[in-house]
Amino acid sequence: MTTFEIRQFGDPVLRQRAREVTELDGELARLAETMIATMHEAHGVGLAAPQIGVQKRLYTYDVEELAERGAAAAGPGVLVNPEIVDADGESVYEEGCLSVPGLHFDIVRPERVTVRGLDLDGHEVILSSDDFMARVMQHEIDHLDGILVLDRLDVDARRAALRELRTRDFDAAAPAGGAHRL
Ligand code: NI
Repeated sequence: MTTFEIRQFGDPVLRQRAREVTELDGELARLAETMIATMHEAHGVGLAAPQIGVQKRLYTYDVEELAERGAAAAGPGVLVNPEIVDADGESVYEEGCLSVPGLHFDIVRPERVTVRGLDLDGHEVILSSDDFMARVMQHEIDHLDGILVLDRLDVDARRAALRELRTRDFDAAAPAGGAHRL
């Protein structure tokens, strides 16, 4: 199957706020299908449309290790026009990003979130998650708002990361030190 090229840090498309999806049609379904294939090919657990250069508010996810534990909503799935409607707690988790290959960061975020969005048929989906699944949801919604993990770091950590990004020659296929890539 055809897959998309994943846009990398430095590409301005990653810095823009994506637009609401207004047409839930066959074209969107095909886009989502190709995004899932792209995500799987890159060994990622989440992929937002801006990461493949499409300025639409949707993302795909597939948290296989949760599926193995019997979680029904682990994916592969698609959320359209998602928004966080509830969040609480706080946790630190190591996140990698398919658009910032080779690096991973300890990121602080709410531990539990409830996300409301649409499926590809236009039905409302309300997804409450915690732990790693909640991470994936928050990381991908950040992408839809043009926010990268680097923006979630404190000043010193961000400066160090940017220095790395300037000086290292990144291989998009490089594993992110065992961290999940979203
Ligand atoms: Ni990412």
